[in-house]
Amino acid sequence: MRPSKEPVITAAQIRDRTRELATQIADDYAGKDLVLVAVLKGAFVFAGDLMRAMGRDVEADFIRARSYDGTSSAGAVEFLIEPTTILRGRHVLIVEDVLDTGITAAAIYERIRAQEPASVAMCTLLDKPSRRQATLDVDYVGFVVDDRFVVGYGMDYYEQFRQLPDIHVLED
Ligand code: IMP
Ligand code: MG
Repeated sequence: MRPSKEPVITAAQIRDRTRELATQIADDYAGKDLVLVAVLKGAFVFAGDLMRAMGRDVEADFIRARSYDGTSSAGAVEFLIEPTTILRGRHVLIVEDVLDTGITAAAIYERIRAQEPASVAMCTLLDKPSRRQATLDVDYVGFVVDDRFVVGYGMDYYEQFRQLPDIHVLED
C-alpha cells in the first residue's frame, strides 16, 4: 500500500482551513482560558499548527487511546496516555485527526467529561460522517471526506506516512 501520487488535500489547503478554524476558536473562547487536548498519535501535527494559528495563550496536553477491535462495532477503549493537566473547571478542546466511527472520540469525550471541566468541545481536521457509529457532537470540522483511508499530515498506515506534508489516499 502506498500514498496516492496526487494529494487529496494539499498542505496549502490545510494551512488555509487551519487558520480559519483557529480564528473561529479564538473568537469563541475570547476571554476564557483554553486547554487543547490532542489525541495521539495522529493529531499531533494538526494540533501544533492549530495552536500556533490561534494568536492567543493556550495550554497543550495529550491523550492516547486504543480501541480494541476497532474495525467492528462497540470496541472497548483503553487509555494509554492521559492528560496530566487538572481539567476540572477548565475549557477543554479535544483535537482529533479524523473521526471515523467516532467510537474512540466518544470514549475520549466521556473520559475528559468525567474530570468535570467547565466545557468540552471537539475539533477534528477530517470527518467521515458516513462511517459514524457513536453519537458525537463535533464543534469544529476542517474537511468532510469520503469513506477512503487517508495518510499524511500526522495520519498513518501502520505507522508509515505521518511525515507527508499533504494528505493522500492510500492505494494498492
Ligand atoms: P474511530 O474510533 O473509528 O473514529 O477511529 C478514529 C481513529 O482511527 C482516528 O483517530 C485515526 O487514528 C484512525 N483512522 C480512521 N480513519 C483513518 C484514516 O483514513 N487514516 C488514518 N487513520 C484513520
Ligand atoms: Mg491511527
